[in-house]
Amino acid sequence: MQTILVTGGCGFIGSNFIHYMLNQNKYRIVNLDALTYSGNLENLKDIEEDLNYKFIHGRVEDAKLVNKVIKEEEISFIIHFAAESHVDRSIMDSTPFIKTNIFGTQVLLDSARLNNIEKFIQVSTDEVYGSLSSEGYFTEETPLAPNSPYSASKAGGDLLVRSYVETYGFPATIVRCSNNYGFYQFPEKFIPLLITNILKDENIPLYGDGLNVRDWIYVEDFCRGIDFAFHKGKNGEVYNFGGNGEKTNLFVVEYILRCLNKPKSLIKFVKDRLGHDKRYAIDFSKSKRDLGWEPIYIFEEGIKHTIDWYLNNKEWWERIKSGEYLRYYEQMYGERD
Ligand code: DAU
Repeated sequence: MQTILVTGGCGFIGSNFIHYMLNQNKYRIVNLDALTYSGNLENLKDIEEDLNYKFIHGRVEDAKLVNKVIKEEEISFIIHFAAESHVDRSIMDSTPFIKTNIFGTQVLLDSARLNNIEKFIQVSTDEVYGSLSSEGYFTEETPLAPNSPYSASKAGGDLLVRSYVETYGFPATIVRCSNNYGFYQFPEKFIPLLITNILKDENIPLYGDGLNVRDWIYVEDFCRGIDFAFHKGKNGEVYNFGGNGEKTNLFVVEYILRCLNKPKSLIKFVKDRLGHDKRYAIDFSKSKRDLGWEPIYIFEEGIKHTIDWYLNNKEWWERIKSGEYLRYYEQMYGERD
């Protein structure tokens, strides 16, 4: 059985992907994760004992460690999720974004190249394309025009990947997704923030006029997309994944309030995010044509599963919201990064 190195597997999309992949029983998975504030070992508690799974605590910027892991664990493939990903945090301080998303990607690429990795998947985002007006869609040909320090750092990582393909013939493929939602998403992101706030009868901060549009994709659909790109994607190509799920933020809030039978008075309009991108919408026709992929879940169905998960996993998010999880990790690993 060949081994995949998953970076950032304790985060939201990474942990969903590890569950998805282990279920197929085709690969051994080594998860390298720095356990920063949003990386959570509890996301993988149910598979800790799986003989095809191993967790290693460490950073992608640590060249010595990355080299050691690739050699000792006999890694054949790398799927690179590890990233600082929250736009608001990047507006406050972009330093960790540059370190992880650009420098970390470069360290990983060098080590992967020198160790003859057979395939590298760069997990990226539609935010590298910038913002849309009310018309049009992002395609793989849309020029990169990132607007936040976060998206600029992801674009930087993507451009490094591209340069390794061109310069060294490195076997890499880039996948770019729209806004994911689903199980294990850290409650600073919009959908889990509003579900958990609503469940606690707390206000929901809605930026600006609430009319910015995001294209919501259920995380399981994106995990399947990564799998397809990994197996069928061509080196040097980019594949976009969207959910056919364009909604205004106001619609999303009102819809979830209705699902939970809570009043609209919980909505609190607040100051807009700086440089707030107006609209994201993905054209995934290339992934459909070349990979045979399209989203299975419609928004209403994915949201139902997601709300049920947060209802059934109150301990998970209450611990995060109370800050108790930080103490839990400090006990296990000492101070976190
Ligand atoms: O498009 C993919 C991207 O989606 C990923 O690359 C990012 O890592 C991910 O964070 C997400 O970026 P967004 O900025 O779109 O996601 P966020 O959940 O922060 O916000 C979604 C929308 O909701 C956005 O228009 C801002 C708005 N918002 C967000 C928060 C946290 C609010 O109105 N209130 C809030 O409290």
